[in-house]
Amino acid sequence: MIPRVRTAVLISGRGSNMSALIEAARSPDFSAEIVLVLSDGPAAAGLLLARKLGVAAEAIDFRAYAGKPAFEAALAARLTAASVEIVCLAGFMRVLSAPFVERWRGRLLNIHPSLLPNLRGLNTHERALAQGLVEHGCTVHLVTAELDAGPILARARVPVLPGDDARALAARVLKEEHRIYPQALDAVARSLRAAAPGGL
Ligand code: GRF
Repeated sequence: MIPRVRTAVLISGRGSNMSALIEAARSPDFSAEIVLVLSDGPAAAGLLLARKLGVAAEAIDFRAYAGKPAFEAALAARLTAASVEIVCLAGFMRVLSAPFVERWRGRLLNIHPSLLPNLRGLNTHERALAQGLVEHGCTVHLVTAELDAGPILARARVPVLPGDDARALAARVLKEEHRIYPQALDAVARSLRAAAPGGL
């Protein structure tokens, strides 16, 4: 049997996308395996959720390091020690440096709650409403040094409905996030495995 691609998920918060990835990876047909969840602080609720779902989860507390390079070195060491091949950002609220991103080129994914290239950055649901958009959605993309600008892997559209507030819109988008992120990870893992059948 071809080994599944060892994948880590980086979170900062509740971890609902992380949970969708872990659930999807339970299927024997899924080409990635979630081997590790890391957060940038101990308060991330997703850590407990990951452990409940049977996945090793650890905090690498950003505040314990002298700065971003030291934090990222700790992150990299942990990922390497776990033989991770793909990293999925799922509500990870830190911008990773260009050298880190370069090291993971083609193997670092992110989910963003807008139809990129529209609405890069934060508060996408509020901005979609403020701009009077009739359509909104989410995007899975490869991470590059420029924020929310890497190659797009998958997008899903949702309507903006009359009476929507940011919360209602976010919930509609989140449902789609949980659908397309596992699909995109599966596709990236499958092509990675096809290129390097024995692992990296
Ligand atoms: C999601 O909306 C994701 O698109 C964004 O941050 C949120 C994380 O939510 N990057 P969760 O922690 O996956 O529930």
